[in-house]
Amino acid sequence: MRRGLIIINAYSSLASSLNQSERLKAEFARLGVETDVRRNNFFPVSIAEGGEISSEADGYDFCVYLDKDKYVSMMLEKRGMRLFNRHDAIEACDDKMVTAVRLAGRGIPMPRTLPGLLCYDEGVHVPEELLDSVERRLGYPVVMKTACGSLGKGVFLLGSREELRAKAEELMRTPHLYQQFISESRGRDLRVIVIGHRCVAAMLRESAGDFRSNLELGGRGTPYALPAKTAALCEEVSEVLGLDYCGVDLLFGEEGMLVCEVNSNAFFGGIERVTGVNVGRLYAEHICREVYHS
Ligand SMILES: Nc1ncnc2c1ncn2[C@@H]1O[C@H](COP(=O)(O)OP(=O)(O)O)[C@@H](O)[C@H]1O
Ligand SMILES: [Mg+2]
Repeated sequence: MRRGLIIINAYSSLASSLNQSERLKAEFARLGVETDVRRNNFFPVSIAEGGEISSEADGYDFCVYLDKDKYVSMMLEKRGMRLFNRHDAIEACDDKMVTAVRLAGRGIPMPRTLPGLLCYDEGVHVPEELLDSVERRLGYPVVMKTACGSLGKGVFLLGSREELRAKAEELMRTPHLYQQFISESRGRDLRVIVIGHRCVAAMLRESAGDFRSNLELGGRGTPYALPAKTAALCEEVSEVLGLDYCGVDLLFGEEGMLVCEVNSNAFFGGIERVTGVNVGRLYAEHICREVYHS
């Protein structure tokens, strides 16, 4: 019997997250693979007395890791589990600054980006020199992002020194970054799903009232015919980061597309509805090819 484990976050109650695991389970069933969907809170792996990693998740051929908890993914992989995505790829995507650094130096276009600088002291303020540097290098409006945000919630557009100072104060103890605002892309971006380093679905996302185009914030998706150059860019991103599955977000720059961020756990419900592509099936098929060579 072919068996797989699908792990989801211990806390999440998001419908799109629960839908993702159930859709994958159904697609695996079609392919003759039985899967268990479990929340991470059964502690699939732990460090046992004596220092070995002990596992409550043996007997599975693979694990679709729909969570981002990096300790568990690291331990599962050390126990020999084949993870989709692999731990290293999940970790690289979880933090937008780490993603940008991993992608840098390869001719992959990205917005100009400054790493957020963390404060470990009490009773201090963001130095004015730091704000001067951000202002000089990126101008206004400027984008600030929490490094590990999603669904557009940790992305802010700041139009003045006062707004920048206030957000920098708020985030001085949270991993973050500063980024050039790509004004041509205001309220619109591209979402591309890549499976096994091949683009399988793309949509244009547009928002009427927000500079962020996330569907969760009211963005509207329409199918998009991907130019070969943009497809090649997304496939390179997926290869560099070692992803089996991802959603690449791209911004419309003055001189071409720019990589905005890469989601290792991109929800596929929205893009399936918009494009009619059965992303869940393609992902399950990819996993079967990798694990069973069939
Ligand atoms: N540098 C930028 N310039 C213009 N728009 C941006 C920029 N960065 C993000 N956005 C907009 O904000 C949205 C959310 O940002 P993103 O980095 O993808 O974070 P999240 O993980 O929350 O989706 C993007 O889809 C895009 O519409
Ligand atoms: Mg995004």
